[in-house]
Formats: sequence, structure tokens, C-alpha cells
Amino acid sequence: MTFSHTSQAPAEGNQLDKKSQAWSALFSEPMSDLVKRYTASVFFDKRLWEADISGSLAHAEMLHAQGILRDADWADIQRGMAQIRSEIEGGAFQWQLDLEDVHLNIEARLTQLVGDAGKRLHTGRSRNDQVATDVRLWLRTEIDLIVGLLNELQRALVEMAAHNTEVILPGFTHLQVAQPVSFGHHLLAYVEMFARDAERMQDVRRRVNRLPLGAAALAGTPYPLDRERVARTLKMEGVCQNSLDAVSDRDFAIEFSAAASLVMVHISRFSEELILWMSQNFGFIQIADRFTTGSSIMPQKKNPDVPELARGKTGRVVGHLMALITLMKGQPLAYNKDNQEDKEPLFDTVDTLKDTLRIFAEMVPGITVKPEAMALAAKRGYATATDLADYLVRKGLPFRDAHEVVAHAVKTAISQQLDLSELPLATLQQFNPAIEADVFEVLSLSGSLNARSVLGGTAPVQVCAQIERHRARLAASN
Ligand code: ARG
Repeated sequence: MTFSHTSQAPAEGNQLDKKSQAWSALFSEPMSDLVKRYTASVFFDKRLWEADISGSLAHAEMLHAQGILRDADWADIQRGMAQIRSEIEGGAFQWQLDLEDVHLNIEARLTQLVGDAGKRLHTGRSRNDQVATDVRLWLRTEIDLIVGLLNELQRALVEMAAHNTEVILPGFTHLQVAQPVSFGHHLLAYVEMFARDAERMQDVRRRVNRLPLGAAALAGTPYPLDRERVARTLKMEGVCQNSLDAVSDRDFAIEFSAAASLVMVHISRFSEELILWMSQNFGFIQIADRFTTGSSIMPQKKNPDVPELARGKTGRVVGHLMALITLMKGQPLAYNKDNQEDKEPLFDTVDTLKDTLRIFAEMVPGITVKPEAMALAAKRGYATATDLADYLVRKGLPFRDAHEVVAHAVKTAISQQLDLSELPLATLQQFNPAIEADVFEVLSLSGSLNARSVLGGTAPVQVCAQIERHRARLAASN
């Protein structure tokens, strides 16, 4: 019912020309067109072609080294694959729906080009271990590109932070003004997130980078394969140790998709802030015009479409994670055709992630910062109220009492529409006589910032130290 795994070729030539013939004499009628279309994957899985060729060549090289494939066949396979590679690269390759998927398309063409050697390639192999290998090889390359893009974005954020260590905006909790923070510090919070994302991707990569080939359909194969050799050729870090698991495992895809979802969640949070900051109510930043769009009806509008779309696309990537994890949940061992459904979510996740990271790395350096608007918002929200409480604690008050004193001071300031730092010393002293002239430095935004010089705090000297740490780390990761 499957292809012959032996070297005895069927008498009537190329059996893979039409898939309806590929399943041998057992079938009494051809597949209906609807079923062909429903079951075919070639129009999306053809993007695995390069991995498919690499996997096949590594397999054939090993078959040859093990004496399973003759010199001439190995030479024919290499020649045929080189031709197929140039046909695909040049756009001349004829992908056929009738041949279902990327694997059968390439194998059929190989057989057309080199005859029997092409038919011998599938010795000791099944499409089940083949496809699992292809997806892993493909994803490994994509992960490396994604890590590179995550580093690019981090570099852009670190350099923007370096220009903004002394720029002060209100930090929020509950989206209510809380305490002043350095804008550079705020940006570095995202650098931390994207650094963890890159680390997570690299960790996932180790489990992606293992070899299923040799598991064949599900149980292994009677041929004396050297799986370790194939793994070495393909620069994989190990061999899947259980044939049933090897062909049916898609944990690596789910893990990747979870890591990708988290990247998008970080992008989405950043997007939300950019959108808020750019709104008239905040007015903290402007995004370069080339990343915004106008309105067809309201002439005054400049809309942050890029961050909005990124926020929207997060739903799409998280959706793919749901698709993949649900795809696995009811599957008995070992391979099931369900697994063909892993590809489109995975491909779209990679495309969306790469485009989004690329566009953000380009957009960040073009952001204009408006320090006056940020400072004004911090003052309007009494961002230094905690500093006054801490000042009173230094003067000997218990913190709870200091908190209460400051609440009264803020109430008065609100009624006079002044910042705490704008109240006369005599007024402040009415709330507590321990308050002296040195309070004004404490109530200033920069005084508040400089006071928070704990490791990881928002004081510019700490922010600068973090910038240097990130620069060194990112320089080393290239
Ligand atoms: N196109 C299939 C997939 O993506 C390849 C494996 C098919 N194996 C099979 N036994 N039908 O999963």
C-alpha cells in the first residue's frame, strides 16, 4: 500500500507521475477532485522545499555510507537534487496538486530526472519522519532569523533609551499617575521583555533541533541506518529516541508558537502605550509620518495604524497557538493526517512575527519625544507625593503618619490647582513643621528620579549602567 522500500522498481516506470497511481494496485478508483483538493498541502508546504532537499540528501548520503545505496545512485540523487534546486529557485518547477505535497512533488521530479535512483531515495524512510524533519529544519532557520530581529529591536530601544535617560514621564499604576520615571528606564523595561523572548526562542531551538528521520512510518526500519550520522550532517543536536514520538511529536511547534505569542503580547503592550502616548490627551510622542496614516474624512487625523495593527495581529498569533495545541489534544499515537494542519498556523506565525519585529525595529528610531508634555503630566498628577512622605520619614515620622500628612497637602494643592512643589514653604509647614526649604529639591521631578538609585531603579545613573550592560550583551550576541 506504500511505495516499495526495496530496490526492486515496479515494471511500469514512474509510478509517482500521478498520485492516484501512487498508492499501488490496492485502489479500485481514483481519488475525487474534491478529496484531492481537501487533502493536498503542496500549495502551502512547498515552502519547505529547501529543508526537504537537505533532509533527503543527508538521508541518501547515509544510505550510501551504510552500503544501502550504490555509488551511481548516490551520484544520480545529488545531480537530480541540484537540478531540482535550480528549477525551484528559477521558478520553473511545476508543482502539482495531483502529487499532494512537497515531498511527493520533489520525489516524483527526481525520479523523472534520474530514474531508479529517485525511487531508491525513500528506502528506510516514510513521509511521516520526513515531514517532521522538514518542519524542524525549516523552523530552526526561522528561529535564528527571529532571534536576530529581536536583537535588532532591542538595539533600537537601547539607543533610544540612551537619548532619554533624563527625560521624565509619569509612571503609572492603574493608569493613574504614580511616580516619575526616566523615559529611558521605561523603554528598557521592553528591552528586558525582548531579551527574555530571545532567550526563550533559543531554548525552544534546542528541542526543535532533533532528528526524527529513521523512525520511518512509526516503528523504525529494518535497514541498518546510522541516525547519528544524519543528525550530524544536518547539524542537529540529537536524535529523537522513540520512533512513535518522533513522527507524532509537535511539541516543538507548540512551544515555538507559545514563545511567539509572548513576543506579540510584548509588542502589543508597547503598541498600546505608543497609541496612548500619541493621542492628544497625552501628547508624549509623535511617530514618524511614514508609520502613520490619515483619515479619508477627517483632515486633522494622523493615526497610529502600525501599532494598532500589531496589537490586532497579536490575536491572530495567539489564535494559531490555540489551533496547534487543540490539534494535538485528541491524537492517538502515532502520525495522523491531522498534523498536516500544523503548517499554515506555523507559517503565518513566523511571517507575522518577522514582519512585526522588522517594522518595530524601523519605527522606534523615528519616534519624536516631547519632554515638556511628559513633565507637565507628571506634575499634574502629583507624581512626587511619595517623595514628600519619604522626606517626612527621614525627619522621624512613621510612614503611615507621613502618608496621611501628604494626603492633606495634595488635597490643598488640588484645590489651588498647583503642584506640591509650587506651594509656598509656609503652606507646606502647616501640614508638618519639620518641612524645610530642602523639600523643594525632593519635590522636583529630577530629585525624585535621582533618589531611586537602587539596582534596577529609575535614577539616571542606574539607567545608564543598564544601557551599558545591554550594549555589551547585544554586541556579543552578533
Ligand atoms: N503532507 C503530510 C503532512 O504534512 C506529509 C505526511 C503524510 N503522511 C501520510 N502518512 N499521509 O503531514
